[in-house]
Amino acid sequence: MCGITAKISIEEHGVRRDLLRSLKRLEYRGYDSVGFATNNGVFSKSTSPMSEFISEVDEDVKSFVSISHTRWATHGGVTHVNAHPHFDSTKTVFVVHNGIIENYDEIREELERKGYDFVTETDSEVIPFFFYDEMIKNKKSFGEAAKEFIKRARGTFAIILTIKNDDKLYALKRDSPLALGILDDGFMLASDIFAFSDETNKAIFFEDDTYAEIKKNAYSFYDSNGDVQSTEITVFDWGVEEEDVQDYPHFMIKEIHEQPKTSKRLINSLETEQKKELSKIKDLIGEAKRVVFVASGTSYHASLIGVHLLNRRGVESHAVIASEFESFYLVDDKTLIIAVSQSGETMDVVTVIKKAKEEGAKIVSVVNVPYSTIQRHSDVSLEIRAGQEVCVASTKTFTNQLITLFFIAKLFSYKEDLSLIPDKIKKTLEDNEDKVKVYAKKLYKKKDVFVLGKGATYPIAREIALKLKEIPYVHAEGMMAGELKHGTIALVEKDTPIICLIPKNNPSMLSSAKEVEARGAEVIVISNDKSNKEVDFLVPESDDAQFSIYSTMIGHLLSYYIGVLRGVSIDKPRNLAKSVTVH
Ligand code: G6P
Repeated sequence: MCGITAKISIEEHGVRRDLLRSLKRLEYRGYDSVGFATNNGVFSKSTSPMSEFISEVDEDVKSFVSISHTRWATHGGVTHVNAHPHFDSTKTVFVVHNGIIENYDEIREELERKGYDFVTETDSEVIPFFFYDEMIKNKKSFGEAAKEFIKRARGTFAIILTIKNDDKLYALKRDSPLALGILDDGFMLASDIFAFSDETNKAIFFEDDTYAEIKKNAYSFYDSNGDVQSTEITVFDWGVEEEDVQDYPHFMIKEIHEQPKTSKRLINSLETEQKKELSKIKDLIGEAKRVVFVASGTSYHASLIGVHLLNRRGVESHAVIASEFESFYLVDDKTLIIAVSQSGETMDVVTVIKKAKEEGAKIVSVVNVPYSTIQRHSDVSLEIRAGQEVCVASTKTFTNQLITLFFIAKLFSYKEDLSLIPDKIKKTLEDNEDKVKVYAKKLYKKKDVFVLGKGATYPIAREIALKLKEIPYVHAEGMMAGELKHGTIALVEKDTPIICLIPKNNPSMLSSAKEVEARGAEVIVISNDKSNKEVDFLVPESDDAQFSIYSTMIGHLLSYYIGVLRGVSIDKPRNLAKSVTVH
């Protein structure tokens, strides 16, 4: 949610070639507007698509120090004036910010009383005025100003400042992610390591309530008292996938097709280098009284499968949506939290694990992005090794989350063979993709779609419905088949499309399909049962749990091809961001 990058270098760097190229890699964090500023006073911002904006930046715009931002709007509409960088009225202090300054109105009023004129509707605009007042008007050092800001500001922030004719970069952070990449020719600051992972594998991760001053050839970090902080350089391993869209029209379909490879890579790593982590997780689950999965969005759907698998093996488990955790769940020191998050940055999940730790709970995480905040706050973390996922909607990472949860279940007598999954994924694609295109043509004008599942396929019904909403913008509801009769069936009319997930030996799902068919619904069956004559999409044989992978793939493909026919923005759906770093 909002991406920020900044570069400081020994030689002048090109804003378009260096800075904005790395910003482009963070576009999935938000795409409402884009902008940059340099320490020699050049700045530009726009609500146009990022590629268009970048192509219009002159190759000759160069600087030693530059900052940039891609926005996911929270406070203030998607307008040119609300786009970052924000600056004071004299255009001396330029700022990019990810997060929310909760008490911005109070800080703003105070600054307005001092005579500063605000022009935007954003919370972020208080930052340049605050630092202008402290550093330029009152001639305080950045350190003094930063300490004061950390004391005064409530909320979350990763902030980078550049000051006209000043040759340093300044940064401060609380809760929103921020990393310093160590390059051959200088340094880069960014919301996540993907911004610079093609240039370096060395980074320093900011702690909360710290600030830093970055020179061309040195950096210093400080805590909120102004004491120098010792820092550790992490050498990371990331960015294993081909990073461009290659021959595919969209990242979504490229990422769906990467699954045979990415699932295989994960299985290998869980059987070898991550085996130690798995055995630690076994011990932690053994010591805990209950397991509570915490997640949001697609990761929550994966968590529900985790609950299904563990409860069936006698391990008391629950899954709670992170944003509602506080209202609906109690944690104690006998609780084991399993945080499932692709980005490892979802703020609602971060908040839960921080509070749970205070209560003495242990934290396990299942993340895709290494060194993410959630991983760094975990006692044990498993990586799903799916590589960078560029499309906002999760596909290959969902599959790898499920595989990881199967491996956890294996610690508790889940006996199915997992080594066949990559081939079965391949077969699912080979056998069904053309058929999906035909069905997409039948469905793309429909207004509502229902998806029904039971047991392990209930979360999949929700996952498919979520994808139908977020990609082609089709209203869809994914639900427990058993609940249908308690209300929703009233919406079933002639030709209402209802996708039924019917794994082998599931008479109850078969009856649900018949019940809606009897009311005129257009039933679409996804099954792994060859003997079912009414199957529309046949996926490889498996148990119910693994059926969840193959049936989801049909739903993901369907959402993709309906989206293509509807001509929507597949990889960057409206209003969404891949990494939700605000509450
Ligand atoms: C956003 C993304 C979803 C994702 C959810 C949770 O809404 O658009 O694709 O499932 O956040 O993200 P996480 O990174 O925690 O899995």
